Parts: sequence; structure tokens; C-alpha cells
Amino acid sequence: MSAAAHSDTVMPSVLLPAHETSLAVAICNVHKTFGKHHVLDGITLTVAQGQTLAVLGRSGTGKSVLLRLIIGLIQPDSGAIRIHGDDISGLSLDHLGAIRKKMGFLFQHAALYDSLTVAENVAFPLQHHRRDLSQSEKQDRVRHLLAEVGLDGDLDKMPSNISGGMQKRVGLARALALEPDILLLDEPTAGLDPISSREIDELILKLQKEHHMASIVVTHDLSSARTIADQLALLDRGKVVAEGSFEDLQQSDNPFVRDFLKVL
Ligand SMILES: Nc1ncnc2c1ncn2[C@@H]1O[C@H](COP(=O)(O)OP(=O)(O)OP(=O)(O)O)[C@@H](O)[C@H]1O
Ligand SMILES: [Mg+2]
Repeated sequence: MSAAAHSDTVMPSVLLPAHETSLAVAICNVHKTFGKHHVLDGITLTVAQGQTLAVLGRSGTGKSVLLRLIIGLIQPDSGAIRIHGDDISGLSLDHLGAIRKKMGFLFQHAALYDSLTVAENVAFPLQHHRRDLSQSEKQDRVRHLLAEVGLDGDLDKMPSNISGGMQKRVGLARALALEPDILLLDEPTAGLDPISSREIDELILKLQKEHHMASIVVTHDLSSARTIADQLALLDRGKVVAEGSFEDLQQSDNPFVRDFLKVL
């Protein structure tokens, strides 16, 4: 049966081998269709705690859709997405909310709130999810987070008055606010000059080392993927066409993979 035919039916839970439940993220044979457009055509990928997976592919191949599925903003037509062993499709909103709190997300265009200061943007998840903290504890945490991303002097600035690289840093600090186990970054270096991009790469590496998160980073930037990721996955027309270390991909004789690597 085609994946599209599944879309209106209750999705059968896909069973994964027992050892896969220890993975931070396990995406198993996921299909996603919008209208007649079969965007994801049987994607299977895994990320262990402490590991970083870079997802690469041309524009429109479904990389952002994949991240939105992992965070539960949209549902797959079929297949399973397991977060620390829990299949998130079909979970109650409460349960999904609890799982989402352990995930930090940097949107493709940083998506800061224009009318809030840098500090208020970072405080936003704390105001909503950490009512147990006092205002001064929240302020301390915001200061600490902004120091971690190198923005300790910029708390009161407005997003429109800081550079694109700084906006990405604020987005990263906000993604870390709830101390996530899993970090999802959609194009963290897009639109930045090469020097700012390398600075963001260094920052991501530092944060991963300190926080031991499982990270999935969507990027067009092969050099960045090579720097920050343990594993790379290359998507084309809804499928994973290559997966492994950068060196593994270099060995591929798939013409699409070879073409993709040529741009480096
Ligand atoms: N809610 C939606 N409704 C209809 N089509 C959608 C929806 N979301 C995504 N799509 C389509 O799915 C495809 C993949 O989109 P997606 O944003 O994941 O691409 P991408 O790989 O992230 O591209 P880019 O590198 O440009 O960010 C596109 O053709 C897009 O138009
Ligand atoms: Mg995208």
C-alpha cells in the first residue's frame, strides 16, 4: 500500500529492535505527503545521545519537514518517530508537551520575537515552562545562557539591531533554555559570512561537548557538516541516498553524492 493511502488511517506502530529504544532519536520508514507531493519517501535515520547527525540535501527535499516531524509539529503519514524510545505519533498533547520540553529547536530563520529584547527572547521558554523558578533565578539563567553563546553584553538589544550571526546565537541560547537532551538546528549558518559561519560551528561544537546532547543539524553547508557532525545523511527526492561519515560519503560512487560533494 502506498504511503499516501495511509494518510487518513490510524498509523500502525512500527516496532524497532529493542536496542534502538536507547537511541535519542529513531526515525523509522517515515513517509510524508502534502497533497500529491510525496516529500518524504521512507526515511530511516537514528541519532544516539551525544552524537550529531547533519542532514544535507537540495532546497525543497524535505529537511525542514523532517525536523518538524521530529518535534511533533506535524504527523507522518506512516512510519514511526521515537524519542528516547517513545513513538511520538498518537501521543496526547500533554505527553507530547513533556517530550518537547526536552528538545531545543532553532528555526530556519532564527524566528526571534521582534518586539522582545534579546534577554526576553531567551527568557520566553522559561516564563512558560519553568514557573518553579523565581524571576531572579530566570534572569540569572538568561544571563548564563547568553554568556555561553558570547552575548553577555547584549541583553537589552532588540533583534532588529543585531547581526544575523548574533540572531542565530540568541536562537541557540533560547533553544538551550530548558536544558534539552536533543537539539534540532535548521540551517544554523545560512545567510552568514564564512567567518561568522565558522564561529557558529565552533559554538555548536562547544555546546555539544558541554551538554552532551543528541543533535540533528540541517544544513546546505558541507564544510559546516564536516566540522560539527559525526554522521551525515544526504537526502534526495524523499530518500536517504547516502549516510555515514564525511569520509564514507567521499567513497560513494553514487553520481548524486559525488556531484553534491564537488561543491566543497
Ligand atoms: N505545510 C505544507 N504544506 C504543503 N507543502 C509543504 C508544507 N510544508 C512543506 N511543504 C513542501 O514540502 C517540500 C519540502 O519542504 P522543506 O521546507 O522541508 O524543504 P527543505 O529541504 O527544508 O528546503 P530548504 O533547503 O529550502 O529549506 C517543499 O516542496 C514544500 O513546499
Ligand atoms: Mg528548510
